[in-house]
Amino acid sequence: MANETSVTEFIILGFSKLPEMKFLLFVVFLCLYFFTILGNIVIVVTITFDTILQTPMYFFLRNLSFLELCFTSVTIPNMLVSLSLAESRISFIGCATQLYFFLLFGVTECFLLSVMSYDRYMAICIPLRYTATMDKRTCVRLSAASWLAGFLVAAGHTTFIFNLPFCGPNIINHFFCEIQPLMVLVCGNTYWNEVQVIAVAGVVLMLPFILILVSYFHIITTILKMRSAQSRHKAFSTCSSHLMVVTLFYGTALFTYARPKSSYSLDTDKWLSLFYSVITPILNPIIYSLRNKEVKGAIWKLGTKIFLMTKD
Ligand SMILES: *[C@@H]1O[C@H](CO)[C@@H](O)[C@H](O)[C@H]1NC(C)=O
Repeated sequence: MANETSVTEFIILGFSKLPEMKFLLFVVFLCLYFFTILGNIVIVVTITFDTILQTPMYFFLRNLSFLELCFTSVTIPNMLVSLSLAESRISFIGCATQLYFFLLFGVTECFLLSVMSYDRYMAICIPLRYTATMDKRTCVRLSAASWLAGFLVAAGHTTFIFNLPFCGPNIINHFFCEIQPLMVLVCGNTYWNEVQVIAVAGVVLMLPFILILVSYFHIITTILKMRSAQSRHKAFSTCSSHLMVVTLFYGTALFTYARPKSSYSLDTDKWLSLFYSVITPILNPIIYSLRNKEVKGAIWKLGTKIFLMTKD
């Protein structure tokens, strides 16, 4: 072990196979980042200041938008820097920090999405007890529990991965420090390490996913049993936005992490990761503000107020 040279920095390969595309990608990502930040800030501000949107559903949605702001800020600014440089390097500590925050926000999002489906389950299936059980304190506790889960998984996973021996090569075939391209760089026999990493990832992804499936199973059977078409429509409209966001997030996450090792190709994984790191964070505010009448109305109301205020 003593004469092993250890890696002190990593080279992020990113887009260097496509030098002619770099400028175009830079502009596209910059625009996407700008609109993601803008959209999510509009949602956070609207929910904070609107008097109608003070329900548990919007409390969690505000937290989700805040989470998306953090999540995209871990990866996209780094991608933009690496697109504007000929060669992008990141220190060992920098890489560990990035993985830590990526996991913190990603795992918290998994759990927060399942908390949101539990909220919909309570509202639709047990409406008489809803306001009594989903009080302010419970909401804060549930979202705090999601953050705690994210924190624990991220701390454990990052510590575990960065204690493995990295002795070169140090080239990360990805846009940022992600688990799979890092595991490839661990020297020696990494089979059991990979098994552990994948087992934890599986539990972290599957546990909230099963909670979401169970919630929606109950929600859908309850909705189908409703007599009037109008109440059926009303109940469904309150959870359709969430269902779309869940499908997008879990669809891409499961496709990336829950595949057998033999079908991995870092090159395709790299492009797939753009879905959950760049595309879904911008879709959340779009889905919620375009499909949800209450949010749309509140954004208009706030916009008008600000417009009138700046006029005087
Ligand atoms: C999100 O939830 C956590 C934990 O309850 C809370 O501390 C934080 O202020 C919330 N953030 C927003 C923007 O609602």
